[in-house]
Amino acid sequence: MHVLVAGGAGYIGSHTVVQLKRAGHDVTIVDDFDNSKATAVARLEELTGGHLPLHAFDLCDPDKTEALFASERFDAVIHFAGHKAVGESVSEPLKYYRNNLDSTFSLVRAMKAHGVHRLVFSSSATVYGDAAPQPCQEEFTPLQSGGGPYGWTKVMNEQILADVARATPDLKVALLRYFNPVGAHPSGTIGEDPQGIPNNLMPFISQVAVGRREKLTVFGDDYPTADGTCERDYIHVEDLAAGHLAALEHIDAMTEPVRAFNLGSGVPTSVLGMIKAFEAATGVPVPYEIGPRRDGDLPITYADPSRALAELGWRTTKSVEDMCADTWRWQSANPQGYPD
Ligand code: UFG
Repeated sequence: MHVLVAGGAGYIGSHTVVQLKRAGHDVTIVDDFDNSKATAVARLEELTGGHLPLHAFDLCDPDKTEALFASERFDAVIHFAGHKAVGESVSEPLKYYRNNLDSTFSLVRAMKAHGVHRLVFSSSATVYGDAAPQPCQEEFTPLQSGGGPYGWTKVMNEQILADVARATPDLKVALLRYFNPVGAHPSGTIGEDPQGIPNNLMPFISQVAVGRREKLTVFGDDYPTADGTCERDYIHVEDLAAGHLAALEHIDAMTEPVRAFNLGSGVPTSVLGMIKAFEAATGVPVPYEIGPRRDGDLPITYADPSRALAELGWRTTKSVEDMCADTWRWQSANPQGYPD
């Protein structure tokens, strides 16, 4: 297939590009580099051993998006493009609603106009909000957002794509609900490169380990969990990337126009458990202090990944130790992330 990877220079997109190429697909990347670096694409070309066609523009521009689809024939689109910082989305909601919805509108309009009928969309476990029984199952109707306006953009995108898929003969949409992506390509050449102070646990741990930050603050140790810290379902980005390939390969066989799949391991790990695993896997200490709870954090959330196994033949293969070792290989080789 010729796959358009929207947001292909970003963290999850880049790892998926490597696997798409390895599986023999042709890949074209579109990315506006708002939260990614061109160096990532150069590294991808080294990893995949060839030129990667790249279009640097904002998908919110419907004319540029239409022109791209008019100039090339795509068999499928994987849509990773979007803003993703929960905290920023609370202070800048319009930025999130505009960007995360407009990019989908442009893409889907162009797909419909040019008869492209396979779409894999980056959704999030945040759509389960705080009402879903644990482990989260796809049947739970996502009428909640666990992640501010950012989370609502995922809920809304899911609804919009479901409505469009039901109204468009042949269009198939796979909604992939990610749990907590961490890790990096085992080569250590591509990985997560958050701009500014990381919001998420693993990049914060690795930046403390590499000396960029003094210590980690653990947000609360008085939750009703085994060690008092929050538990999450961490998933290696390589497993996550493989989940996109599995979705792409099975999308034609979907009996419904739209289907949601959890991409998680089904096994929760606590914050303290993650710190210990990182220290054990790398031998590098991670100084931390216990701080107050962070607003909006759930005590525990994890996936029931059985649908993805039954219908996509996909399951996670990498351990928490792999996640930590691979994160460290990337972070220690690239202490400041990608060079400009
Ligand atoms: N944590 C800390 N210290 C930090 C950062 C995180 O203790 O410096 C803790 C959090 O309190 C939480 C756990 O580590 O208990 C994981 O936090 P992350 O921010 O890494 O991940 P979240 O589960 O909060 O976020 C994920 C996704 C978001 C999504 C959100 C919705 O990364 O995209 O779930 O709940 F919106």
